[in-house]
Amino acid sequence: MEVFKTIKSLQQSLSDNGQNSTLGLVPTMGALHEGHLSIVRRAKEENNQVIVSIFVNPTQFDKKEDLVNYPNTLEADLEALESIGCDYVFTPSIEEVYQGDTKSESFDFEGLDKVMEGQFRTGHFDGVATIVKKLFLITKPDKAYFGEKDYQQLLIIKKMVGLESIPIEIVAVGIYREHDGLAMSSRNTRLSQAQRLAAPEIYQTLLKSKKLFENGDLTKVKSFVKNEFIQNKELDLEYFEVAEIESLKSANEFTPNTKYRAFIAVFADKVRLIDNIALN
Ligand code: PAF
Repeated sequence: MEVFKTIKSLQQSLSDNGQNSTLGLVPTMGALHEGHLSIVRRAKEENNQVIVSIFVNPTQFDKKEDLVNYPNTLEADLEALESIGCDYVFTPSIEEVYQGDTKSESFDFEGLDKVMEGQFRTGHFDGVATIVKKLFLITKPDKAYFGEKDYQQLLIIKKMVGLESIPIEIVAVGIYREHDGLAMSSRNTRLSQAQRLAAPEIYQTLLKSKKLFENGDLTKVKSFVKNEFIQNKELDLEYFEVAEIESLKSANEFTPNTKYRAFIAVFADKVRLIDNIALN
């Protein structure tokens, strides 16, 4: 496994790699867990070579304290990536990526960025699309892999490659869960014992709402979820939303032949957890 900090050295090595090889990119911010590794494994299965980027992107953080407190576990990350046969790792500095202009580009995501995560995290998706576009242009992969836990991010990235006519296939990878159903996240390690015990309730509630959704009464589904969290001492509901799977248009009633997903964001004190589920 080769590790690069500069664009020049990375591109030199990638271009030495020959024309007939396919490259899969897995963008990350490090603090890798089994969820990330499952995405890297999938990329390995589908490409000759895999590159993982590890870069904590300042422009996607709306709160400075989140950026400052973002965990750095680079040594363990590199060990884990090496052990599963990753070929390249790109760990640039902020200066290397942004060249002295640490700002987001503005994109028109046609409303995809105005709901849910976008509503609660100002500028977040412009920051995500800015860094992902930069990584795409630097590494020029054939395919790039993103987890469905950040489903809205996945749609934003698909939209961005369309807007910018970037010829990269975006591959969605299903949510990787702990044995008790909690979606894997770097933030899970920040949960107290009591919060960690309570956290599987998030996925349990999504499963129950999926069941209730079969009756087609969205008002009931929404009030059920609200009630579940009013009763939970450790978890505070930030939002629960049912939306169409491509436009993310919020659904107030069930329309036949339309696909929906339920989305949830919950606070365990200061730790924010998100999850989602396909409803039909
Ligand atoms: O999902 C993430 O870890 C980040 O948002 C990403 C896609 C690596 C961009 O910084």
